[in-house]
Amino acid sequence: MEDHICFDRDRCELRLLDQRLLPVEERTVVCRTLDDVVRALQLMVVRGAPAIGVTAGFGAALALAEVLDGGAGDWRAAYAHALERLAAARPTAVNLRWGVERIRRLWQAAGDISRPDLLARITEEALAMQAEDIAVCRAIGRAGAEVVGDGQTVLTHCNAGALATAGYGTALGVIRGACEAGKRVRVIADETRPFLQGARLTAWELQRDGIEVTVACDNACALLMSRGMVDVVVVGADRIAANGDTANKIGTYGVALLAREFGIPFYVAAPLSTIDLATADGTGIPIEDRPAEEVRCLGGRQVCPEGVPVYNFAFDVTPAALITGIITEKGILKPPYAKSLAAALSA
Ligand code: MRU
Repeated sequence: MEDHICFDRDRCELRLLDQRLLPVEERTVVCRTLDDVVRALQLMVVRGAPAIGVTAGFGAALALAEVLDGGAGDWRAAYAHALERLAAARPTAVNLRWGVERIRRLWQAAGDISRPDLLARITEEALAMQAEDIAVCRAIGRAGAEVVGDGQTVLTHCNAGALATAGYGTALGVIRGACEAGKRVRVIADETRPFLQGARLTAWELQRDGIEVTVACDNACALLMSRGMVDVVVVGADRIAANGDTANKIGTYGVALLAREFGIPFYVAAPLSTIDLATADGTGIPIEDRPAEEVRCLGGRQVCPEGVPVYNFAFDVTPAALITGIITEKGILKPPYAKSLAAALSA
């Protein structure tokens, strides 16, 4: 699947498959303005770190078109402000800021070109980011295929698949890579409360691809591992700090602790754009705190008594010491991560 993020240059609009409605309904949300894109990111019409980064590129093109149409007096100041709003739409996945910074650098380097030319260049850059992301995910899949043995069962948390990227996926890219290498692979998808990315999105994607998938409640993980039902864990990442500490969907840390307890290898699969050397360790990663309603309600039904507060931290940080390897487009990085991450980024 590579058409869930689709930019129409002629109409200057971004069409996003609405991930909130899957697997029941396949409906598209059309974004024409910066506000539309920020809303789509915050409501998680589109989600997953690399997908957010690619969306940011198209959002930056729409924002420029809007600023230029609006005839703002100081269009440069207006555009700089628009890019800042876009980068701040969600705090944890570093790919969002990475995508915006890539556009900002292009803008700064473009010098004194006409505004229509600038818009054309930014659109080209966003399209290039989308194509690159698919190629990078395929490279992650090829590099990571070796961590999954023939006949093995992989447990994954959240959705780090085609939907969470421009296509193919990171953690699911590794699974797809193993399948394409001729291995028989089974997948356990944690359901991933409260947004249910595992049950709704990972299961949907894998079923469409004919890859055997079983959904399990998040709290079944210890039982499944204790029964020998999991051979390897592969998850995605929203931000990897310089020392290898990794933010990913809430619940990932618990899975990593259990994997350590049961001697199961725990891999993170992510593009280099998810590595943030400016953040020394996990304590510096901002954790998104989402609306309480996502926990209070399930399928439109209230599941908590009125007035009871809830925690809805969207991510947690898995310490580097629990991570067996980080699978990137440059190969599988091993501890000590301070060294291997820096080397991969400078290469
Ligand atoms: O809140 P989400 O759905 O955007 O969180 C997504 C995840 O945590 C993914 O595992 C991560 O972004 C990696 S996606 C390839």
